[in-house]
Amino acid sequence: MREKLQIAIDGPASAGKSTVAKLVAKKLNYIYCDTGAMYRAATWYALQEGVALDDDQALGEMLTQMELKFIPSDPEQLVFVNGVDVTKAIRLPEITNNVSLVSAQPSVRADLTKRQQQIASNGGIVMDGRDIGTTVLPNAQVKIFLVASVHERALRRFKENQQKGIKTPLDVLEQEIEARDYKDSHRKVSPLTQAKDAVLLDTTSLDIEQVTAEIMKIVKTEEK
Ligand code: DC
Repeated sequence: MREKLQIAIDGPASAGKSTVAKLVAKKLNYIYCDTGAMYRAATWYALQEGVALDDDQALGEMLTQMELKFIPSDPEQLVFVNGVDVTKAIRLPEITNNVSLVSAQPSVRADLTKRQQQIASNGGIVMDGRDIGTTVLPNAQVKIFLVASVHERALRRFKENQQKGIKTPLDVLEQEIEARDYKDSHRKVSPLTQAKDAVLLDTTSLDIEQVTAEIMKIVKTEEK
């Protein structure tokens, strides 16, 4: 039987990580884990509970009361916090614009990293995020770092938003993406950075199928 790998896909906001990670997981019949959704869920819960988004200790305590569940579903998996379906709510601009602050808190990172390591412990997983190859799964057999220009990423988010009826202008999206890149790359704990042994893939002029094919090539060389 083939070894069940851990595949880490990191990169900045809107570089196409989740779309590609889902496709790779489907092809391999692996579990897909969207760690960004976990940080978004924690942000949603903090806003719900009125916990200050920069209060590291209070957020850590809050997380001990947060049950987080992913339920497989098409076209996207459902996310539940303490039994409440937050799948749509965690994608709203209020969450997107606050998630970097919550995800910079050490106790939040420690709690969610532990949950992510548990989910990945049996292998057969594609996990996407910012620090998967560096911190969460440093021994992952496949590590990919996906990048694309800010303009291209804003354009992709703009098109996604149009389908969801969200009307943020393109130049505002570019500014938001740049601001989030900056915060994610400059926080003290587990900043967004390419792992030394990760393969860099620039997706600016590649479509989803081409990126997926590149990753599958790398996976095949690791499968024994
Ligand atoms: O991938 P995303 O845009 O849904 O992620 C939302 C935020 O969560 C992102 O701005 C940074 C944070 N994040 C993180 O700090 N570490 C991860 N492994 C995944 C996401």
